[in-house]
Amino acid sequence: MQAGDRIFLMLNAANRDPRAYPDPDRVDLDRDGPPHLTFGFGPHLCLGFALARTEGQVAFPALLARWRSIDRDGLDAPQWIDSLVFRGMTALPLRVG
Ligand code: HEM
Repeated sequence: MQAGDRIFLMLNAANRDPRAYPDPDRVDLDRDGPPHLTFGFGPHLCLGFALARTEGQVAFPALLARWRSIDRDGLDAPQWIDSLVFRGMTALPLRVG
């Protein structure tokens, strides 16, 4: 970086830092270690985090109650939003049964 350069800080990859989280791409709901940064921290902690958590607590049990199997073997790759700021998908092909 040079003096005067414009820089753009992103939290997006922080939860995947292998120095903080071993094997960071593995889903492990029982991880210990440093807290995650999904909702930021400090004075700019996400104002909607309680709503987002409640939505997850409603949505995931409802999905699992409706379908006994959910997989994506052999299906098209997810389509990602084209954005530096937000991470999300426009399509996530799944097979349910
Ligand atoms: C899974 C869902 C969500 C995620 C992962 C998320 C993530 C984040 C993160 C990382 C920040 C901090 C950004 C920074 O430090 O610059 C943030 C801030 C914020 N979020 Fe969320 N958010 C979610 C849902 C929501 C919802 C549902 C609302 C409102 C209903 C919301 C409202 C806000 C607001 C207003 C801020 C700014 C807080 C401030 O700067 O003081 N978020 N969010």
